[in-house]
Amino acid sequence: MSGMWGNNIKLSIFGESHGNAIGINIDNLPCGFSIDMYEVMREMRRRLPGKSKLSTSRKEDDNPEILSGYFEGKTTGTPLCAIIRNNDNKSKDYSKLKNTMRPGHGDYTGYVKYKGFNDYRGGGHFSGRITAPLVFAGAICKQILRSKGIEIVAHIKSVGTVEDESFLDINLNNNILEKLKNEEIPVINADLKENIKDEILTVRQEGDSIGGSIECAVLGIDAGFGSPFFDSVESTLAHLMFSVPAVKGIEFGKGFDLCKMKGSQANDEYYLEGEKIRARSNNNGGILGGITNGMPIVFKVAIKPTPSIYKEQNTINVESMEETVLKIEGRHDPCIVQRAVPVIESVAAIGILDIVY
Ligand SMILES: Cc1cc2nc3c(=O)[nH]c(=O)nc-3n(C[C@H](O)[C@H](O)[C@H](O)COP(=O)(O)O)c2cc1C
Repeated sequence: MSGMWGNNIKLSIFGESHGNAIGINIDNLPCGFSIDMYEVMREMRRRLPGKSKLSTSRKEDDNPEILSGYFEGKTTGTPLCAIIRNNDNKSKDYSKLKNTMRPGHGDYTGYVKYKGFNDYRGGGHFSGRITAPLVFAGAICKQILRSKGIEIVAHIKSVGTVEDESFLDINLNNNILEKLKNEEIPVINADLKENIKDEILTVRQEGDSIGGSIECAVLGIDAGFGSPFFDSVESTLAHLMFSVPAVKGIEFGKGFDLCKMKGSQANDEYYLEGEKIRARSNNNGGILGGITNGMPIVFKVAIKPTPSIYKEQNTINVESMEETVLKIEGRHDPCIVQRAVPVIESVAAIGILDIVY
């Protein structure tokens, strides 16, 4: 069923972009865990729209209201339900999208699946806004994982043609982790920030949009988690990554670059670091046979350009069944990549907690 996920941690997300509220129900969190709400809000703010010209001008405070499962500062272990109110919805901007399908968005597929009963305003349930509850859940999962020594961090790997360094080529330490978490444009090579901003602001001015990629790492996870075949760590993470709107690809470790390598280049040779078995490289992204090998899990997701652009596009009016030209109004992100960084970290945290539970 859509909107539900999980084996050990079970999630159910709900809401529409212009409805009263969006939210999440999280079942089977461990009981008695103290949630640092300040930290949760810090994570929510990383995804928040309306912070600068790099994102949509929709202004939301994304303040989660916890309805259940949290008592006297600690999780109760019973379902934790939270809602986030929608405050800044301008639904009139979307009236012409009722029947005119935006190319690249979920309008047409949602219309067919839900026989026209779907709430189309602001993309309804297909909106990137529904990732706010995922960030809320991810922020809690990250805290639980931290108590087990596991950290998750992501950065912008590319926007357009601007390409950052890779986690696979640097020494990942806590300084980098903290630095990336506090940046609007989280990149390893700080010199690229202005280039990335320029790319985004240029397409914004042109009424267009741009895509890119995000690289994510899971640090401190021991060898031995996951399973071969259907419940491989890759399968779980890929399932969650493709649940994030606008994600169109995923690679683990060197991913598609492995196609061009020889076995002698691709294999990660082992060595002993004291008693610990380590690998000299991490081309396989920390997963072999579907199971973690003790190296950081490293993967990269492809984020497509925002579908809602301000240039005229050819499409169909599904009511009149005529071809038509669409000029979109409303507020949209010229680039989704920088806003999706905490979302990717969050769904990774949810997946990893489910695996190591
Ligand atoms: C954080 C975030 C923000 C997004 N913002 C927008 C937006 O402003 N306008 C838009 O058309 N799509 C936006 N999207 C993408 C659409 O929701 C997505 O492309 C659409 O639902 C179709 O799904 P698909 O691209 O996965 O096929 C956003 C996605 C995310 C994750």
